[in-house]
Amino acid sequence: MNFTPDEWRTPFGRGGLPWDGKFYIEMARTLERACFDYIMIEDKLMVPESFGGTPELALRNAMMVPKHDPAPLAVAMGMATTHLGVVATLSTLAYPPFLLARLCSTIDSLLGGRFGWNIVTSAEDLAAQNFGMDKLPARDLRYEMAEEYLDVVNKLFASWEKDAVVLDHAAGIYADHTKVHRIDHAGKFYKVRGPLNTVPSPQQRPAYLQAGASPRGRDFAARHSDSIISVANGVESMKAFRDDIRARAEAAGRDPNSIKVLFCVTPTLGETEDDAQEQHRRMVSAPHFISDILASISAITEIDFAKYDLDRPLPERLITNGEQGSLDKFQQWGSGKTLRELVVGGAGGLVSSVELIGTPDGVAERMGEIMAQVGGDGFLITTPVLRVSRRYFVEIADGLVPALQRRGLTRAAYRFGTLRENLMEF
Ligand SMILES: Cc1cc2nc3c(=O)[nH]c(=O)nc-3n(C[C@H](O)[C@H](O)[C@H](O)COP(=O)(O)O)c2cc1C
Repeated sequence: MNFTPDEWRTPFGRGGLPWDGKFYIEMARTLERACFDYIMIEDKLMVPESFGGTPELALRNAMMVPKHDPAPLAVAMGMATTHLGVVATLSTLAYPPFLLARLCSTIDSLLGGRFGWNIVTSAEDLAAQNFGMDKLPARDLRYEMAEEYLDVVNKLFASWEKDAVVLDHAAGIYADHTKVHRIDHAGKFYKVRGPLNTVPSPQQRPAYLQAGASPRGRDFAARHSDSIISVANGVESMKAFRDDIRARAEAAGRDPNSIKVLFCVTPTLGETEDDAQEQHRRMVSAPHFISDILASISAITEIDFAKYDLDRPLPERLITNGEQGSLDKFQQWGSGKTLRELVVGGAGGLVSSVELIGTPDGVAERMGEIMAQVGGDGFLITTPVLRVSRRYFVEIADGLVPALQRRGLTRAAYRFGTLRENLMEF
């Protein structure tokens, strides 16, 4: 989900709530009731203007903009829940590593060890231009910088030994200064003295999430992540992605079971099969559906999709310095599909790895079958057309999840207090 306007366009919305976060806090509580591992707040750092060379459509349709800062929302969601993990997207391009480590450490302490960081390198020139650059660095360079960045923040998180805070009231000692260390990092891109000026948080470092899709991105994700999120094209591609990540993790000396690969899906649920199919049909035939999807894909690739004929295939395989993985899933190069077909089929492949349409029981059964084929680890449920809706998250939490729980596929109660521990349970 994104810290975007509430369901302002539906008859069940409230016309766009004030930006007090209460809608999202309700969402977090609902997901906690259903015992989700975590809720993830995506983020971008610009007002898109790639579609048609103007911000008009993005602003008119509220697609990818506005987006408010995920960090304070993560705190508010975390304070309103007790077990749900809360993950915020923070860009290595935007935050100096010291500030990011300090922010993450602080939130993880506030949330009693339930905070996660979705590591992104940003993907847009427009974002880079908000941080003193003219252009986004090339992908390989972004990942090279991100590798060093992770090295720096990991050193910062470890700069206080776990037992550095002694709280010895009798002797009047708060922290043992011999257990707090400078890091003296001087690398190619970053120079940071340390130590961090926050106490070790319950998880010492937040849980790490990543969504790398390119070979370089997958390597990065396999080396560092506790959880990887991905959009695949069908069950075979889910299995291939997970196998690939596990092989890369092993090659990097990690236990592949310490990484939970979650595949994005957007189930459409109905009281009957026909009801669900009808809802899906209504969603993809809504007047704004196509322009919403195209505005989104334009925003994250900085390619102007307004210039392509909806009823013809794309003229060539498109390349971006932005989210190439997302672009490839969208364009299905070689499939011969028209742009309209790409958009309408499976929400443009942008958000759903497999199509799940049916009753809660039917969809739960199918999810179990898919996971058995893929080998694990789970799904990340995303909101339809990149949009949040109260009705939708209640359908998931009180319809789909109980059907999954009855099959023993998801937990019915939390067993652990921290996000990393909960992640490792399934
Ligand atoms: C489910 C999902 C969520 C993502 N969320 C964000 C986000 O919030 N902000 C962002 O800048 N990029 C986001 N990305 C983009 C990824 O960080 C990454 O750049 C993208 O998957 C392309 O991979 P690559 O960088 O290896 O080419 C997301 C990707 C996926 C699949």
